[in-house]
Amino acid sequence: MTREKQDAKSEIQSLREQINYHNYRYYALDDPEIPDAEYDRLMRRLQQLETEHPDLVTPDSPTQRVGHAPLQQFREVRHLVPMLSLSNAMNRDEVLAFDRRVREKLGVDRVEYAAEPKLDGLAISLIYRHGLLELGATRGDGYSGEDVTQNVRTIESIPLRLMGEHAPELLEVRGEIIMPRAGFEKLNRQRLKQGKKPFANPRNAAAGSLRQLDPRITAQRPLEMYCYALGKVQGVSLPDAHYDTLMQLRQWGLRVNREIRRVTGIDAALAYYEEMAVKRDALPYEIDGVVYKVNRYRQQEKLGFVSRAPRWAIAHKFPAHEEMTTVKSIDVQVGRTGAITPVARLEPVEVGGVIVSNASLHNKDEIERLDIRVGDTVIVHRAGDVIPKITAVVKSKRPPDARPFVFPDHCPVCGSEIIFDGVIARCSGGLFCPAQVKESLKHFASRKAMDIEGLGDKLIEQLVDVGLVRNAADFYVLREEDLAGLERMGEKSAHNLIRAIEASKSTTLPAFLYALGIPGVGEATALTLATHLLTLEAIRNAEIEKLEQLPDIGPVVADNIHTFFRQSHNAEVIDRLIELGVHWPDPQPLATESLPLSGKTIVLTGKLEGMTREQARKRLQALGAKVSGSVSKNTDLVVAGPGAGAKQSRARELGIRIIDERGLLDLLDSG
Ligand code: IVH
Repeated sequence: MTREKQDAKSEIQSLREQINYHNYRYYALDDPEIPDAEYDRLMRRLQQLETEHPDLVTPDSPTQRVGHAPLQQFREVRHLVPMLSLSNAMNRDEVLAFDRRVREKLGVDRVEYAAEPKLDGLAISLIYRHGLLELGATRGDGYSGEDVTQNVRTIESIPLRLMGEHAPELLEVRGEIIMPRAGFEKLNRQRLKQGKKPFANPRNAAAGSLRQLDPRITAQRPLEMYCYALGKVQGVSLPDAHYDTLMQLRQWGLRVNREIRRVTGIDAALAYYEEMAVKRDALPYEIDGVVYKVNRYRQQEKLGFVSRAPRWAIAHKFPAHEEMTTVKSIDVQVGRTGAITPVARLEPVEVGGVIVSNASLHNKDEIERLDIRVGDTVIVHRAGDVIPKITAVVKSKRPPDARPFVFPDHCPVCGSEIIFDGVIARCSGGLFCPAQVKESLKHFASRKAMDIEGLGDKLIEQLVDVGLVRNAADFYVLREEDLAGLERMGEKSAHNLIRAIEASKSTTLPAFLYALGIPGVGEATALTLATHLLTLEAIRNAEIEKLEQLPDIGPVVADNIHTFFRQSHNAEVIDRLIELGVHWPDPQPLATESLPLSGKTIVLTGKLEGMTREQARKRLQALGAKVSGSVSKNTDLVVAGPGAGAKQSRARELGIRIIDERGLLDLLDSG
């Protein structure tokens, strides 16, 4: 071997070791040591050397994750130890019964359990021989599955080589392949754009991605793996309990979920369930329950198996996020700005503990895409606080008389023509449309706007229906006797309401601007307008160019603001409101020095897990920071998430402080 080759060989070796080590820090320990840009630099250097010396490429090199041609079909492989399933407990009593059986059989008072999230993905089995990844196989029927090795190799959280000197001769390790929610949503957005059918949920997306014959496709999908069990193991002695084994797996560089705990007694296990139920929606991936596993292997052996599930483990499921129900009718709703949203009226069904009887269908395209018809059986999905969504139609249950929905061409409330702006349908009736009037009045009176206590949605609808109120200024001429005839309106409530209306006259400029309901002007934009332009007069008279110069105001919103104030009916209502006594304290010039991050210039780069960059920017700005798009010597701080590249390197060159998402959260909290 030439001198040059020898040098290349040792550099390649060293680069691979470094890269494997940093993968281990990143995925197994969740504690990266170097920034992504540095990692990329190591990878690029390795790629370069391997291109120059193709004979030095080995299959376990970190560059060799995607490298094979598409397959014709997957080979069937037999698992060395069968892949079992878990029995389910749907409620607390079933968990208590499980614990009782376990304790009786073991003759003990209290059992130590490993408590784990039940990840909603697909099970996978990996085989490492002498530390090298040899095989990845799907669960299949539990005895044999499909050989998806070349796809598994593309998943970065799966090491191609185990860490450490003493890798076992044979290690069959089991876990779950999942697709994190954020990646799933991004993938579906892309698919919709390309006219492809979106995946129904992250689990289907993960399964579909892993079962691609072309590994280059799998490589582009955001898949991750968490390990939670072992199959056959040879040539190493393992700890005597499951939890300790998981910690050993982590030492080998395999990824083990951070939420796994060791708990003693079933009460502690149930407390873990409650804790995870609360945490569930904040996790970046979906879980459908938790799993309790008897921790000690000796006890597991004593308990054994029934049919194909261990007696020493049970899955405690969360209430389902998805249920089936039927569509009774499809209506359209008219919003404040005239946007027409189709809504499915459903046979009420409990989804994850909440009764759902309506689901938004978003727009015409969505109805066509799902091909929803009145009478159809549909799958309703509800996660966290988000509005329930219909994810699919169960076509096999479609009744012969199911009726397709015909999107109206006239507003169902005022009869005006509906105009399409892309996929968004809008009623062209404007203030002639009672639905739009009602919605904008509800907005006007709402808490963050004029905050008129006791003026609820139902009351506003009545006031419009009986003709007492046509626009916001009319609220301020209402008298107690006008209200007397309304439903559920006693003398006392009438009196209180008039007082609340009176009290609302004293407001702030941002609240007033927000109350006007200018399209695109939310609370933050209203605040920007008020703090920069200071008076209503200045805002009303501002030209588009001036508005566009304000932070966060783009051309569309600038145009909306400009147009709004130039419409005579808006101008009249505003003038009348002021005449009738709506007022706010004299404008205060931006009290910049007083905010905690005033004078600081911050740059956001890379991905954030818990919020979008946009949300982070808003929150920083609310604390007085200037959020800039590029790093310069005037930058005070850089927030770098995964995937941060050039901006982070530039910041390091300039010696600017760099923090991660946790640091950002601390900063926001302290502010
Ligand atoms: S242990 C012998 N642990 O649930 C026990 N399974 O319903 C083997 N799953 O096929 C499985 N999270 O795909 C285990 N923390 C976890 C899990 C988990 C999700 C899945 C797995 C399995 C299915 C059984």
